[in-house]
Amino acid sequence: MSEERSRAEERSLEARLEEIAQRVRVCTHCDLWRTRTHAVPGEGNPRAEVMFIGEAPGYHEDRQGRPFVGAAGQYLNELLQRAGLRREEVYITNVVKCRPPGNRDPLPDEIAACAPYLDEQLGVIRPRVIVTLGRYSMSRWFPNEKISRVHGQARRVGDYVVVPMYHPAAALHQPALKELVEKDFEKLGEIITQVRAETATTADDQPEEKPQQMRLF
Ligand code: URA
Ligand code: SF4
Repeated sequence: MSEERSRAEERSLEARLEEIAQRVRVCTHCDLWRTRTHAVPGEGNPRAEVMFIGEAPGYHEDRQGRPFVGAAGQYLNELLQRAGLRREEVYITNVVKCRPPGNRDPLPDEIAACAPYLDEQLGVIRPRVIVTLGRYSMSRWFPNEKISRVHGQARRVGDYVVVPMYHPAAALHQPALKELVEKDFEKLGEIITQVRAETATTADDQPEEKPQQMRLF
């Protein structure tokens, strides 16, 4: 692909994401719009290989209209480093785009009302790897799993490799989880390296073929 063409494509992906974000900012599809200051559509690289999906905006995210900017966000930045990722190269969003009052858990009808936006974002970005942060984003792909059983394990779901992680906020509040989560992010770095190697192999040698077996998943 020529450089010019890939730049044009990137602009169009960005424009499509911005068009979704504009609808999110004025959305009234569930009651969370009544108490929000700002909706938080998500941010990051339109061509991200890795997409992180949290639960819902908290106080600081609602104030700023940006995901993961409070304490959990600072910690997420550290965890990204452990995985060898820069924040600018990934895409970060949430299952629910508006803050639930008092940071209560999102309700099933709120998650359902907001799901089409996440679907659209996934359709534009088409990441190779999806990292779920906490149980609400995990249950979108693994509705019956327990995070204590599957955390840090990569699984293929259709075209994606999905890696469920403990929520960084949970790890911040429970020292016992901290070590687990930090190890999981180091392993995420290895998983990403493997996914990249797989892409390179399929692109160079066997355009139609996908390797059947991988070491980590
Ligand atoms: N926790 C989340 O799940 N998402 C955010 O954006 C911030 C904190
Ligand atoms: Fe709309 Fe989602 Fe906000 Fe509900 S949480 S008002 S569905 S953007």
